[in-house]
Amino acid sequence: MDVIERVLISKEELDRQVEELGSRISKDYEGKELVIIGVLKGGFIFLADLARKITIPVDLDFISVSSYGDSSKSSGVVKIIKDVDTNISGKHVLIVEDIIDTGLTLNHLVELLKTRGPLSVKICAALDKPSRRKAEVHVEYKGIEIPDEFVIGYGLDYAGKYRNLPEVCILKKDVYSKK
Ligand code: PRP
Ligand code: MN
Ligand code: MG
Repeated sequence: MDVIERVLISKEELDRQVEELGSRISKDYEGKELVIIGVLKGGFIFLADLARKITIPVDLDFISVSSYGDSSKSSGVVKIIKDVDTNISGKHVLIVEDIIDTGLTLNHLVELLKTRGPLSVKICAALDKPSRRKAEVHVEYKGIEIPDEFVIGYGLDYAGKYRNLPEVCILKKDVYSKK
């Protein structure tokens, strides 16, 4: 696609990461009641891959939130578009995200889910952009650290598109700076 500057993370590297995280999660939650919550929309591809590398029985649910909308900058306001319908009280919760950027989305989500009586709330994120952090978030299961570039693919969008790219790619600067 002509909006791609270059590939940042290959399919192979993503697969390796997912495999490693999946086996750690399977070990850590062995014998425990785990509810995995995928954060839509961005988290859907990573969760689909990760779920198939987890070898213990888990409940899966989704929450849909948005802080970026169509813009390339976070609005700072996290909107819950669709909540989970699983009762997480007395269960361990693992939130699965595509990327942690400012941390505002996950910070908000963790606080929200903690009010519902779970035994624990932890985070698994495919990508981490630590240079942009505004809110402190502890990521127990962290995938790949990336520089401060606008990335698309593997669930990540620009203005709603390009989530379906199989690799994580850097978006050409002129695509978003002209707008
Ligand atoms: C993106 C991304 C994360 C969040 C990370 O979602 O998928 O959920 O932003 O940014 P933060 O750490 O600065 O909060 P977005 O709000 O664009 O919604 P989407 O997943 O539907 O694209
Ligand atoms: Mn998202
Ligand atoms: Mg987005």
